[in-house]
Amino acid sequence: MTQMKRLPIGILGSGKGSNCRAILERIRSGDLAAEARLVLSDVLDAPILDIAREFGVANAYLPPGRFRTRLEPEIEEQLVQMLRDADVELVVLAGFMRVLHEPMLKAFPRGIINIHPSLLPKFPGLEAWKQALVAGERVTGCTVHYVDEQVDHGRILAQKEVTILPNDTAESLHARIQVLEHELYPLVIGEFCKRYAGSSQ
Ligand code: GRF
Repeated sequence: MTQMKRLPIGILGSGKGSNCRAILERIRSGDLAAEARLVLSDVLDAPILDIAREFGVANAYLPPGRFRTRLEPEIEEQLVQMLRDADVELVVLAGFMRVLHEPMLKAFPRGIINIHPSLLPKFPGLEAWKQALVAGERVTGCTVHYVDEQVDHGRILAQKEVTILPNDTAESLHARIQVLEHELYPLVIGEFCKRYAGSSQ
């Protein structure tokens, strides 16, 4: 049987990396025809880097520079170079806490995706599950979308809904959203894999 051409992906994250783990597990089990070329983090001791090591994936800390919410422009150029050197076709943001700008957006047009813990366009920004709870919503969820120059914006690729229960706390709600994130993100990446496998090289 001929093997499906595997989509080379790069994963960027700043935190605990549970989405990264879900993706790497699906790749390992053969459910996802992708190849994780690189995991990068702007946080030196982020657990996402340990996860990459656990799965034997090349990983690196990217010192972000002097800004808080973005990468220093020269560093963002470096990031582009690292991803290009690794032949990455799809950049997967998994809890990456910095807004990407022109170097990345120009280098990977329609090639960067993000997952966000709300039903966008509702509740972009930080702690979106808390925002939904405070707003008295009955339903929230998670969204995978293309990344553009605005925060948690860009064309929506897929969403999953989560019912908010009367006794939900921020923690319990976030935990249920994350369970769905771990299903949704690999599914969406799988669609990119199919398209890539069908394309000529
Ligand atoms: C997720 O909730 C994702 O929606 C948001 O950041 C969180 C990352 O979690 N963008 P993890 O690091 O993948 O566990």
